[in-house]
Amino acid sequence: MKNFKFVDASGLDTALAYKLVVGCVVPRPIAWITTMNAKGLVNAAPFSSYNYVATDPPMLGVNIASKAHGLKDTARNILETGEFVVNVADVDNMELMHASAAEFDADVSETSSLGIELIPSLKVKVPRIAHSPIQMECRLDQSVKLGVGRNVLYIGEIVAFHIWDELFDGERVDSIKLNPVARLGGPNYSALGQIFNKPMIQKPPGGEGWVNQVFESTLSGKDKK
Ligand SMILES: Cc1cc2nc3c(=O)[nH]c(=O)nc-3n(C[C@H](O)[C@H](O)[C@H](O)COP(=O)(O)O)c2cc1C
Repeated sequence: MKNFKFVDASGLDTALAYKLVVGCVVPRPIAWITTMNAKGLVNAAPFSSYNYVATDPPMLGVNIASKAHGLKDTARNILETGEFVVNVADVDNMELMHASAAEFDADVSETSSLGIELIPSLKVKVPRIAHSPIQMECRLDQSVKLGVGRNVLYIGEIVAFHIWDELFDGERVDSIKLNPVARLGGPNYSALGQIFNKPMIQKPPGGEGWVNQVFESTLSGKDKK
């Protein structure tokens, strides 16, 4: 058996807690979020503390940490307008997505400065990123302050999906062809690696004994290729 390092998480320093969660919770999908301020200026920034959180209706959750002197532009715009668009980041868009994480002044649009092409959304005023393979138009459902620090979870209801034709057959999204980019710990990104195809298991096909057999073969390494 390997040795483990133990970290007691009670009273953990915030900077170390951050390093631990971003290193342990991997790979993370990236929400490349567009928002608009009250004057119509469009903002874009990436967020990887993000996932879907409900399906009825479909909802996404993204955790945006405040800065020492106030809200990030994305958070402020979401609260002001109640709208945002989650553009899925793929490998082809990685450089632009990464560049949009820079701290631009609130009155400077990342999309204009970086030349990110926008197209109109259908149900919200916030435009979507033209070269992103999937865009999800969202309306803010609720914002939830988490813990005692600067984290706030913004939960949005997806009110419209836009998916490239070639990725969608009307029912399933081809997430392999999508070629998403993910965030790892430190300054690292990753693309998809090996794909494992395992059909969903609802009931053990061979009764309870079958489950034990699976555990035993895993423990003894028999299942390893
Ligand atoms: C890949 C990536 C993921 C990020 N994820 C988050 C995140 O989940 N939450 C967060 O608060 N900041 C995150 N950031 C940092 C924001 O993108 C950054 O603070 C940005 O300047 C915010 O822009 P805004 O002020 O225009 O909203 C991430 C940065 C990168 C490059």
